[in-house]
Amino acid sequence: MANESANDTAQNIGPVILLGPPGAGKGTQSRRIVEHYGIPQISTGDLLRDHVARGTALGLEAKVIMARGELVPDELMYGIVATRLREADCKRGFVLDGFPRTAPQAGWLDAFLEKEVFDKSEKCPPVVIQLLVDYTQLLQRLAGRRSCPTCGRLYNIHSQPPLVDELCDVDGSKLVIRDDDREEVISGRLAAYETQTRRVADYYRAQRRLVAINADRTMDEVTAQIFAVIDNHFKDGCE
Ligand code: AP5
Repeated sequence: MANESANDTAQNIGPVILLGPPGAGKGTQSRRIVEHYGIPQISTGDLLRDHVARGTALGLEAKVIMARGELVPDELMYGIVATRLREADCKRGFVLDGFPRTAPQAGWLDAFLEKEVFDKSEKCPPVVIQLLVDYTQLLQRLAGRRSCPTCGRLYNIHSQPPLVDELCDVDGSKLVIRDDDREEVISGRLAAYETQTRRVADYYRAQRRLVAINADRTMDEVTAQIFAVIDNHFKDGCE
């Protein structure tokens, strides 16, 4: 009950979009935004992996595409994103991690927000934060990533190792390597970013909504830059 009233009076902060290549730190920083601002993380990668794990029709189709490091077709993405964004916890805002990833997805999101979100509540145009990271740094981050299959916590054998080798600090589960973090898939994912997702940055730059930050720094330094951008963008509330 206490939480409900806190949320009722908390300021809307609107949609936050984290844009960046595989390994840029979108998932890591999204979790910190969730903790700090109390808004949910919508990770399309996690939504798809959940469909794959449950063996749904969408999951079966997405599995082979993801294994090649390619993007799942836009038409398949719209349904799962719309369903998630219609949930009640997205009312005050949300952080999008991995969506939009193509120019048509960005256009679809604008239309969705206008029709289904801003029509019913205050208009809070998204802030789009682009995480810039050096290519060799990305390769090292992806190759070193480990995650807990139970609680989802992220680790990195170079920058954020667990206390005990290969075991989760929180629940002791054996850490796993993501299927698409194999060397031959990583190059396909980075190529998909270059050919398709860079256009999303152009789309938002043209609308003067893109803020690029240097995400080559430590996790805490990146977090500080992101929080400053969000606080500045939503400082006067929504339109
Ligand atoms: P998705 O799950 O979204 O993967 P991704 O975009 O490739 O991003 P990653 O999760 O690999 O990286 P991240 O930026 O979140 O970095 P992280 O924080 O983990 O998508 C997977 C697949 O699903 C796609 O290839 C596609 O097939 C499909 N898909 C998803 N969305 C789609 C869409 N909208 N349309 C079509 N298809 C879609 O960090 C990486 C590592 O680095 C970690 O180990 C972390 O600990 C470490 N690290 C993080 N920050 C730092 C730092 N500052 N310094 C040092 N280490 C750091």
